[in-house]
Amino acid sequence: MSESVPDDSDRISERVRAIEPQGIREMFELATEQDGDLVHLEFGEPDFDTPDHIVDAAHAAASEGMTNYTSNAGVLELRRAIADHLARDGGPRPDPESEVVVTNGGVEAIHLAIHSVADPGDEVVVPTPTWPNPISQARLASAVPVEVPMPAEDGFVPDADRIIDAIGPNTAAVLLTSPSNPTGRVVPPAVVERVAETAADYDAFVIADEVYRSLTYEETPPRAAAVTDREEWVLTVGSVSKAYAMTGWRVGWLAGPPDVLAQVTKIHESTTSCVNTPAQYAAIAALTGPQDPHEEMLDAFSARRAFVFDRLGSLPVVSATRPEGAFYAFVDVSDLPGSSADIAKRLLTEYGVVTAPGSAFGAGGEGFLRLSFANSMDRLELGLDRLESMVRTESV
Ligand SMILES: Cc1ncc(COP(=O)(O)O)c(C=O)c1O
Repeated sequence: MSESVPDDSDRISERVRAIEPQGIREMFELATEQDGDLVHLEFGEPDFDTPDHIVDAAHAAASEGMTNYTSNAGVLELRRAIADHLARDGGPRPDPESEVVVTNGGVEAIHLAIHSVADPGDEVVVPTPTWPNPISQARLASAVPVEVPMPAEDGFVPDADRIIDAIGPNTAAVLLTSPSNPTGRVVPPAVVERVAETAADYDAFVIADEVYRSLTYEETPPRAAAVTDREEWVLTVGSVSKAYAMTGWRVGWLAGPPDVLAQVTKIHESTTSCVNTPAQYAAIAALTGPQDPHEEMLDAFSARRAFVFDRLGSLPVVSATRPEGAFYAFVDVSDLPGSSADIAKRLLTEYGVVTAPGSAFGAGGEGFLRLSFANSMDRLELGLDRLESMVRTESV
């Protein structure tokens, strides 16, 4: 560091200082320092390429001069495609003109939602274990994340009573992620209904993060906005990232009531202006084009899920509940020595498998490891062989 730069953390805003480094990133960095044939089971993105027709659509858009800024809310044709997609998925079709904003992935949609509805000091209720970003996003908005651990003994099925107990006059929003990263649990409709009802009674929104929704293996429950009659309090988050292997394209959406969405557009105006224009055309192709590549990917994830859970079921000491969606196994390793971070580090340094420790996913995640099955069958088999060696060695 240059000597003229004072080493004084007061130079940095309190909001930003309140954000903690993510446990997943720490493992990623440890892995980059390590040589050898590592099996990567930490990835949070599909291991497939974006389907050709989607790439071609972006290429065509760029070649045809679709390279200007778009409206802050996104290309209207894409907003229509998103509204149609949501309607096909069951439940209300938002008005593309006033109830849909195209965002830089689902992550920005959650950020915009929290910023639009939470004042400094307001609470954002986050059932855990959770993908940690919404916790940081609440802090960035000077709001207070309230972590509510879901019951591990029930495989982390969201528990309405626990969530409702955390809602009160200071609550601005409640996050319901379905399916969940890292647990793979879907939120039962009855839970959505009761939580949305209570939240609305306190003038608080449900932020329904549905980015993994199209990767559901059993019966897909209705969308959050479809199960509550307090729909004016539901903000729906979605994206093309996971469903179409498009994580790097950064296209998602926020759908919800027009008064909130008008504020969201204002934030866009002063932050990102809009989403990358050719990427928006790629997303139109994803949502309106052939769905076979998506179906094939879903079949592959489904086969891997079966394989991974057969293998996990045959291991001593560790256990996991089969996820209903997403592509993670959240494995109970609490009978192995040490914290989940210690176990993840040992698994990496001594056995060559990269995973994410449960402690990275908020309260209640300790004692678990997240294994992603976004990897080929061969690599999954090798990773599980290595996990088995560790478990058998350490449990004697
Ligand atoms: C639960 C959850 N929501 C939202 C996102 C955001 O994804 P994207 O911004 O790529 O749509 C992720 C990414 O991993 C996630 O796990």
